[in-house]
Amino acid sequence: MGKVKVAIIGVGNCSSALIQGVHYYKNASMDEFVPGLLHADFGDYHVKDIKFVAAFDIDSRKVGTDLSNAIYSKPNNTKTFYKVPNLNVDVYKGPPLDGVGKYVKDVIKIDPNQKPVDVARVLNDSGAEVVVNYLPVGSDKATQWYAQQAIDAGCAFVNCIPSFIASEPKWQKKFEEAKLPVAGDDVMSQVGATVVHKTLIKLLVDRGAVIDESYQLNIGGDTDFQNMIDEDRLASKRKSKTSAVQSLVPYKVPLHIGPSDFVPFLENTKIMYVWIKGRYFGNTPFKIDVKLEVLDSPNSGGIVIDAIRATKLGLDRGISGPLISISAYAFKHPPRQQPYEVAKQWVEMFIEGKRDR
Ligand SMILES: NC(=O)c1ccc[n+]([C@@H]2O[C@H](COP(=O)([O-])OP(=O)(O)OC[C@H]3O[C@@H](n4cnc5c(N)ncnc54)[C@H](O)[C@@H]3O)[C@@H](O)[C@H]2O)c1
Repeated sequence: MGKVKVAIIGVGNCSSALIQGVHYYKNASMDEFVPGLLHADFGDYHVKDIKFVAAFDIDSRKVGTDLSNAIYSKPNNTKTFYKVPNLNVDVYKGPPLDGVGKYVKDVIKIDPNQKPVDVARVLNDSGAEVVVNYLPVGSDKATQWYAQQAIDAGCAFVNCIPSFIASEPKWQKKFEEAKLPVAGDDVMSQVGATVVHKTLIKLLVDRGAVIDESYQLNIGGDTDFQNMIDEDRLASKRKSKTSAVQSLVPYKVPLHIGPSDFVPFLENTKIMYVWIKGRYFGNTPFKIDVKLEVLDSPNSGGIVIDAIRATKLGLDRGISGPLISISAYAFKHPPRQQPYEVAKQWVEMFIEGKRDR
Protein backbone atom coordinates (compact mmCIF):
# COMPACT_ATOMS: atom_id res chain seq x y z
CA MET A 1 0.00 0.00 0.00
CA GLY A 2 2.99 2.39 0.08
CA LYS A 3 4.57 4.27 2.94
CA VAL A 4 3.20 6.10 5.98
CA LYS A 5 5.19 9.32 6.25
CA VAL A 6 5.43 10.42 9.86
CA ALA A 7 6.63 13.59 11.60
CA ILE A 8 7.54 13.53 15.30
CA ILE A 9 7.02 16.37 17.78
CA GLY A 10 9.33 15.87 20.78
CA VAL A 11 12.28 13.48 20.35
CA GLY A 12 12.18 12.12 23.92
CA ASN A 13 12.08 8.62 25.38
CA CYS A 14 8.77 7.64 23.74
CA SER A 15 9.91 8.69 20.28
CA SER A 16 13.10 6.72 20.86
CA ALA A 17 11.20 3.50 21.68
CA LEU A 18 8.78 4.05 18.78
CA ILE A 19 11.53 4.59 16.20
CA GLN A 20 13.65 1.71 17.52
CA GLY A 21 10.57 -0.55 17.40
CA VAL A 22 9.72 0.28 13.79
CA HIS A 23 13.23 -0.80 12.76
CA TYR A 24 13.45 -3.75 15.19
CA TYR A 25 10.33 -5.37 13.68
CA LYS A 26 10.99 -4.47 10.05
CA ASN A 27 11.53 -8.09 9.04
CA ALA A 28 8.40 -9.50 10.72
CA SER A 29 6.41 -11.63 8.29
CA MET A 30 2.95 -10.31 7.38
CA ASP A 31 1.12 -12.73 9.70
CA GLU A 32 3.74 -12.89 12.46
CA PHE A 33 2.67 -12.24 16.07
CA VAL A 34 4.52 -9.14 17.25
CA PRO A 35 4.06 -8.37 20.98
CA GLY A 36 2.34 -5.01 21.33
CA LEU A 37 0.93 -4.75 17.82
CA LEU A 38 -2.57 -5.75 16.79
CA HIS A 39 -1.05 -6.97 13.52
CA ALA A 40 2.35 -6.85 11.82
CA ASP A 41 0.30 -6.05 8.73
CA PHE A 42 -2.40 -3.52 9.68
CA GLY A 43 -4.85 -2.86 6.84
CA ASP A 44 -2.05 -3.65 4.38
CA TYR A 45 0.44 -1.36 6.13
CA HIS A 46 3.40 -3.28 7.52
CA VAL A 47 5.46 -1.90 10.43
CA LYS A 48 8.32 -1.26 8.02
CA ASP A 49 6.06 0.99 5.90
CA ILE A 50 6.31 3.66 8.61
CA LYS A 51 8.89 6.16 7.42
CA PHE A 52 10.01 9.05 9.62
CA VAL A 53 10.37 12.15 7.45
CA ALA A 54 10.53 15.08 9.90
CA ALA A 55 11.17 15.72 13.60
CA PHE A 56 11.06 18.71 15.94
CA ASP A 57 12.55 19.32 19.38
CA ILE A 58 14.08 22.23 21.32
CA ASP A 59 17.02 20.60 23.12
CA SER A 60 20.33 21.69 21.54
CA ARG A 61 21.74 18.14 21.92
CA LYS A 62 19.01 16.92 19.55
CA VAL A 63 18.37 19.86 17.20
CA GLY A 64 20.61 19.75 14.10
CA THR A 65 21.49 16.06 14.49
CA ASP A 66 20.09 13.14 12.56
CA LEU A 67 16.95 11.70 14.17
CA SER A 68 18.77 8.35 14.50
CA ASN A 69 21.29 10.04 16.88
CA ALA A 70 18.86 12.35 18.64
CA ILE A 71 16.79 9.45 19.99
CA TYR A 72 19.79 8.29 22.08
CA SER A 73 20.80 11.81 23.26
CA LYS A 74 20.56 12.97 26.86
CA PRO A 75 18.37 13.50 28.78
CA ASN A 76 16.69 10.45 27.12
CA ASN A 77 17.31 7.44 29.34
CA THR A 78 15.20 4.62 27.98
CA LYS A 79 16.66 1.29 26.93
CA THR A 80 18.47 0.90 23.60
CA PHE A 81 17.08 -2.32 22.15
CA TYR A 82 17.96 -1.53 18.55
CA LYS A 83 20.60 0.68 16.92
CA VAL A 84 18.69 2.62 14.28
CA PRO A 85 20.71 3.36 11.10
CA ASN A 86 21.08 6.90 9.76
CA LEU A 87 17.63 8.17 8.75
CA ASN A 88 18.73 11.32 6.86
CA VAL A 89 16.16 13.28 8.86
CA ASP A 90 17.47 16.39 10.65
CA VAL A 91 15.79 17.32 13.91
CA TYR A 92 14.53 20.89 13.54
CA LYS A 93 13.92 23.39 16.29
CA GLY A 94 10.31 24.20 17.10
CA PRO A 95 9.18 27.10 19.30
CA PRO A 96 9.49 26.22 23.04
CA LEU A 97 6.11 27.78 24.01
CA ASP A 98 5.02 25.97 27.22
CA GLY A 99 7.04 22.81 26.49
CA VAL A 100 9.47 23.24 29.40
CA GLY A 101 8.14 23.08 32.95
CA LYS A 102 9.87 24.61 35.99
CA TYR A 103 11.32 21.29 37.22
CA VAL A 104 13.04 20.44 33.91
CA LYS A 105 14.25 23.88 32.88
CA ASP A 106 17.85 22.97 33.84
CA VAL A 107 17.58 19.49 32.31
CA ILE A 108 16.43 20.50 28.81
CA LYS A 109 19.16 22.63 27.20
CA ILE A 110 17.93 25.34 24.87
CA ASP A 111 20.42 27.22 22.68
CA PRO A 112 19.01 30.76 22.17
CA ASN A 113 21.07 31.08 18.97
CA GLN A 114 19.17 28.25 17.29
CA LYS A 115 16.07 29.81 15.73
CA PRO A 116 12.77 27.93 15.40
CA VAL A 117 11.87 26.88 11.85
CA ASP A 118 8.60 27.36 9.97
CA VAL A 119 7.09 24.06 11.12
CA ALA A 120 4.18 23.93 8.61
CA ARG A 121 6.61 24.54 5.76
CA VAL A 122 9.00 21.79 6.94
CA LEU A 123 6.03 19.42 7.25
CA ASN A 124 4.95 20.30 3.73
CA ASP A 125 8.43 19.94 2.23
CA SER A 126 8.99 16.59 3.97
CA GLY A 127 5.77 15.10 2.58
CA ALA A 128 4.64 14.22 6.13
CA GLU A 129 1.14 12.71 6.33
CA VAL A 130 0.76 11.92 10.04
CA VAL A 131 2.11 14.14 12.86
CA VAL A 132 2.71 12.39 16.19
CA ASN A 133 2.69 14.58 19.30
CA TYR A 134 5.02 13.49 22.12
CA LEU A 135 5.46 16.79 23.97
CA PRO A 136 5.82 16.91 27.78
CA VAL A 137 2.70 16.86 29.96
CA GLY A 138 1.30 20.36 30.45
CA SER A 139 2.30 21.60 26.96
CA ASP A 140 -1.23 22.75 26.18
CA LYS A 141 -0.27 25.80 24.13
CA ALA A 142 2.47 23.94 22.23
CA THR A 143 0.13 21.02 21.47
CA GLN A 144 -2.53 23.34 20.06
CA TRP A 145 0.10 25.22 18.11
CA TYR A 146 1.50 22.03 16.54
CA ALA A 147 -2.02 20.71 15.86
CA GLN A 148 -2.68 23.91 13.88
CA GLN A 149 0.63 23.48 12.01
CA ALA A 150 -0.44 19.94 11.10
CA ILE A 151 -3.76 21.26 9.76
CA ASP A 152 -2.00 24.04 7.82
CA ALA A 153 0.30 21.46 6.24
CA GLY A 154 -2.54 19.02 5.45
CA CYS A 155 -1.40 16.36 7.95
CA ALA A 156 -3.40 14.04 10.20
CA PHE A 157 -2.63 14.21 13.94
CA VAL A 158 -1.99 11.50 16.56
CA ASN A 159 -2.01 13.04 20.02
CA CYS A 160 -0.17 10.92 22.57
CA ILE A 161 -0.38 13.41 25.45
CA PRO A 162 -3.11 14.61 27.81
CA SER A 163 -3.62 18.05 26.22
CA PHE A 164 -7.01 17.42 24.71
CA ILE A 165 -7.36 17.62 20.91
CA ALA A 166 -9.11 14.50 19.53
CA SER A 167 -11.59 14.53 22.45
CA GLU A 168 -12.18 18.29 22.31
CA PRO A 169 -15.17 19.43 20.15
CA LYS A 170 -13.43 22.63 19.03
CA TRP A 171 -10.47 20.68 17.62
CA GLN A 172 -12.65 17.87 16.25
CA LYS A 173 -14.42 20.53 14.18
CA LYS A 174 -11.15 22.07 12.99
CA PHE A 175 -9.90 18.69 11.75
CA GLU A 176 -13.29 17.92 10.21
CA GLU A 177 -13.27 21.23 8.32
CA ALA A 178 -9.73 20.55 7.14
CA LYS A 179 -10.84 17.06 5.98
CA LEU A 180 -8.18 15.41 8.11
CA PRO A 181 -8.42 12.62 10.71
CA VAL A 182 -7.28 13.00 14.32
CA ALA A 183 -6.66 10.28 16.96
CA GLY A 184 -6.03 10.63 20.73
CA ASP A 185 -5.75 11.68 23.49
CA ASP A 186 -3.01 10.44 25.88
CA VAL A 187 -1.71 7.07 24.73
CA MET A 188 -2.63 4.06 26.89
CA SER A 189 0.36 1.79 27.44
CA GLN A 190 0.25 -1.89 26.44
CA VAL A 191 0.81 -3.28 29.95
CA GLY A 192 0.39 -0.09 31.95
CA ALA A 193 -1.40 1.01 35.10
CA THR A 194 -4.48 2.28 33.27
CA VAL A 195 -5.26 -0.94 31.41
CA VAL A 196 -4.59 -3.08 34.52
CA HIS A 197 -6.73 -0.77 36.68
CA LYS A 198 -9.54 -0.62 34.07
CA THR A 199 -9.55 -4.40 33.69
CA LEU A 200 -9.72 -5.04 37.46
CA ILE A 201 -12.50 -2.49 37.89
CA LYS A 202 -14.49 -3.99 35.02
CA LEU A 203 -14.05 -7.49 36.45
CA LEU A 204 -15.42 -6.31 39.82
CA VAL A 205 -18.38 -4.50 38.21
CA ASP A 206 -19.14 -7.57 36.06
CA ARG A 207 -18.98 -9.82 39.17
CA GLY A 208 -21.47 -7.62 41.03
CA ALA A 209 -19.05 -6.23 43.63
CA VAL A 210 -19.38 -2.69 44.97
CA ILE A 211 -16.29 -0.50 44.59
CA ASP A 212 -15.94 1.96 47.48
CA GLU A 213 -12.55 3.61 46.86
CA SER A 214 -9.53 3.22 44.62
CA TYR A 215 -6.15 4.81 44.04
CA GLN A 216 -3.40 4.44 41.47
CA LEU A 217 0.01 5.93 42.25
CA ASN A 218 2.82 6.08 39.70
CA ILE A 219 6.51 6.87 40.23
CA GLY A 220 9.39 7.08 37.75
CA GLY A 221 12.80 8.64 37.12
CA ASP A 222 12.73 10.17 33.63
CA THR A 223 12.05 13.74 32.43
CA ASP A 224 8.37 12.88 32.01
CA PHE A 225 8.14 12.23 35.79
CA GLN A 226 10.45 15.11 36.68
CA ASN A 227 8.17 17.46 34.73
CA MET A 228 5.11 15.98 36.42
CA ILE A 229 6.25 16.99 39.94
CA ASP A 230 4.63 20.28 38.91
CA GLU A 231 1.02 19.83 40.01
CA ASP A 232 0.03 22.85 37.86
CA ARG A 233 0.90 20.87 34.70
CA LEU A 234 -0.90 17.75 35.88
CA ALA A 235 -4.60 18.61 35.84
CA SER A 236 -5.31 17.10 32.43
CA LYS A 237 -3.16 13.99 33.15
CA ARG A 238 -5.19 13.29 36.30
CA LYS A 239 -8.43 13.92 34.39
CA SER A 240 -7.40 11.61 31.56
CA LYS A 241 -6.28 8.72 33.80
CA THR A 242 -9.23 9.09 36.18
CA SER A 243 -11.83 9.22 33.40
CA ALA A 244 -10.44 5.99 31.90
CA VAL A 245 -11.20 4.12 35.15
CA GLN A 246 -14.40 5.94 36.20
CA SER A 247 -15.96 5.30 32.76
CA LEU A 248 -16.34 1.60 33.62
CA VAL A 249 -18.30 2.07 36.86
CA PRO A 250 -22.00 3.00 36.65
CA TYR A 251 -21.77 5.13 39.82
CA LYS A 252 -19.33 7.73 41.15
CA VAL A 253 -16.31 6.22 42.96
CA PRO A 254 -13.82 8.22 45.07
CA LEU A 255 -10.65 7.88 42.95
CA HIS A 256 -7.15 9.28 43.39
CA ILE A 257 -5.09 8.61 40.28
CA GLY A 258 -1.90 10.08 38.89
CA PRO A 259 1.88 10.47 38.84
CA SER A 260 3.04 10.78 42.43
CA ASP A 261 6.78 11.32 42.60
CA PHE A 262 10.08 11.57 40.73
CA VAL A 263 12.71 9.02 41.83
CA PRO A 264 15.80 9.80 39.66
CA PHE A 265 17.59 6.44 39.96
CA LEU A 266 14.56 4.62 38.53
CA GLU A 267 15.38 6.28 35.17
CA ASN A 268 12.80 5.03 32.60
CA THR A 269 11.42 2.37 34.97
CA LYS A 270 7.90 3.14 36.14
CA ILE A 271 6.33 1.63 39.24
CA MET A 272 2.58 1.64 39.76
CA TYR A 273 0.49 0.82 42.80
CA VAL A 274 -3.17 0.06 42.20
CA TRP A 275 -5.38 -0.34 45.26
CA ILE A 276 -9.10 -1.07 45.34
CA LYS A 277 -11.41 -1.36 48.33
CA GLY A 278 -14.91 -2.77 47.94
CA ARG A 279 -17.62 -5.13 49.12
CA TYR A 280 -19.24 -8.32 47.87
CA PHE A 281 -22.15 -10.54 49.09
CA GLY A 282 -23.22 -9.85 52.67
CA ASN A 283 -21.46 -6.45 52.58
CA THR A 284 -18.22 -8.40 53.11
CA PRO A 285 -15.17 -6.15 52.54
CA PHE A 286 -12.23 -6.96 50.24
CA LYS A 287 -9.05 -5.16 49.16
CA ILE A 288 -6.93 -5.60 46.05
CA ASP A 289 -3.33 -4.37 46.10
CA VAL A 290 -1.29 -4.62 42.91
CA LYS A 291 2.25 -3.50 42.13
CA LEU A 292 3.36 -3.27 38.50
CA GLU A 293 6.89 -2.48 37.33
CA VAL A 294 7.62 -1.70 33.67
CA LEU A 295 10.05 0.13 31.43
CA ASP A 296 7.86 3.06 30.48
CA SER A 297 8.61 4.08 26.91
CA PRO A 298 8.57 0.76 24.99
CA ASN A 299 5.20 0.22 26.69
CA SER A 300 3.53 2.70 24.35
CA GLY A 301 5.63 2.10 21.19
CA GLY A 302 3.55 -0.71 19.67
CA ILE A 303 0.26 1.01 20.49
CA VAL A 304 1.41 4.16 18.69
CA ILE A 305 2.58 2.13 15.66
CA ASP A 306 -1.01 0.84 15.38
CA ALA A 307 -2.48 4.32 15.96
CA ILE A 308 -0.29 5.76 13.18
CA ARG A 309 -1.37 3.06 10.72
CA ALA A 310 -5.07 3.44 11.62
CA THR A 311 -4.79 7.19 11.09
CA LYS A 312 -3.16 6.64 7.70
CA LEU A 313 -6.06 4.32 6.78
CA GLY A 314 -8.39 7.17 7.80
CA LEU A 315 -6.51 9.52 5.48
CA ASP A 316 -6.64 7.02 2.61
CA ARG A 317 -10.39 6.62 3.11
CA GLY A 318 -11.03 10.36 3.24
CA ILE A 319 -12.30 10.26 6.84
CA SER A 320 -12.15 13.58 8.65
CA GLY A 321 -12.44 14.47 12.33
CA PRO A 322 -11.99 12.11 15.30
CA LEU A 323 -11.23 8.42 14.71
CA ILE A 324 -13.48 6.82 17.32
CA SER A 325 -12.33 3.18 17.17
CA ILE A 326 -8.55 3.51 17.33
CA SER A 327 -8.88 6.33 19.88
CA ALA A 328 -10.97 4.13 22.20
CA TYR A 329 -8.41 1.30 21.86
CA ALA A 330 -5.13 3.18 22.05
CA PHE A 331 -5.78 6.24 24.24
CA LYS A 332 -6.82 6.99 27.80
CA HIS A 333 -9.02 9.99 27.01
CA PRO A 334 -10.68 9.21 23.65
CA PRO A 335 -13.76 10.92 22.22
CA ARG A 336 -15.72 7.82 23.32
CA GLN A 337 -14.54 5.55 26.18
CA GLN A 338 -15.12 1.80 25.76
CA PRO A 339 -14.14 -1.34 27.67
CA TYR A 340 -10.91 -2.71 26.26
CA GLU A 341 -12.39 -5.71 24.40
CA VAL A 342 -15.09 -3.61 22.70
CA ALA A 343 -12.52 -1.06 21.56
CA LYS A 344 -10.30 -3.84 20.18
CA GLN A 345 -13.23 -5.30 18.24
CA TRP A 346 -14.06 -1.83 16.86
CA VAL A 347 -10.50 -1.46 15.54
CA GLU A 348 -10.66 -4.85 13.82
CA MET A 349 -13.94 -3.78 12.19
CA PHE A 350 -12.40 -0.45 11.19
CA ILE A 351 -9.48 -2.24 9.52
CA GLU A 352 -11.96 -4.39 7.56
CA GLY A 353 -13.92 -1.26 6.57
CA LYS A 354 -16.99 -2.34 8.60
CA ARG A 355 -16.81 0.76 10.80
CA ASP A 356 -16.25 4.09 9.12
CA ARG A 357 -14.28 5.68 11.94
N1 LIG B 1 4.01 4.93 28.15
C1 LIG B 1 4.39 6.15 27.94
O1 LIG B 1 5.56 6.34 27.84
C2 LIG B 1 3.39 7.28 27.83
C3 LIG B 1 2.03 7.02 28.04
C4 LIG B 1 1.11 8.08 27.95
C5 LIG B 1 1.54 9.36 27.65
N2 LIG B 1 2.86 9.60 27.45
C6 LIG B 1 3.26 10.98 27.18
O2 LIG B 1 4.10 11.12 26.04
C7 LIG B 1 4.85 12.33 26.18
C8 LIG B 1 6.30 12.08 25.86
O3 LIG B 1 6.88 11.27 26.86
P1 LIG B 1 8.45 11.07 26.91
O4 LIG B 1 8.71 10.07 27.97
O5 LIG B 1 9.00 10.87 25.55
O6 LIG B 1 8.89 12.52 27.45
P2 LIG B 1 10.32 13.19 27.28
O7 LIG B 1 10.42 14.21 28.35
O8 LIG B 1 11.38 12.13 27.20
O9 LIG B 1 10.24 13.89 25.83
C9 LIG B 1 9.66 15.12 25.55
C10 LIG B 1 10.47 15.79 24.45
O10 LIG B 1 9.80 16.98 24.03
C11 LIG B 1 10.77 17.99 23.78
N3 LIG B 1 10.11 19.31 23.79
C12 LIG B 1 9.73 20.08 24.84
N4 LIG B 1 9.10 21.20 24.39
C13 LIG B 1 9.10 21.13 23.04
C14 LIG B 1 8.59 21.99 22.02
N5 LIG B 1 7.96 23.14 22.30
N6 LIG B 1 8.76 21.63 20.72
C15 LIG B 1 9.39 20.45 20.41
N7 LIG B 1 9.88 19.60 21.34
C16 LIG B 1 9.74 19.93 22.64
C17 LIG B 1 11.80 17.75 24.89
O11 LIG B 1 13.03 18.38 24.61
C18 LIG B 1 11.88 16.23 24.90
O12 LIG B 1 12.82 15.77 23.96
C19 LIG B 1 4.63 12.81 27.64
O13 LIG B 1 3.66 13.82 27.65
C20 LIG B 1 4.11 11.55 28.31
O14 LIG B 1 3.32 11.81 29.47
C21 LIG B 1 3.78 8.59 27.53
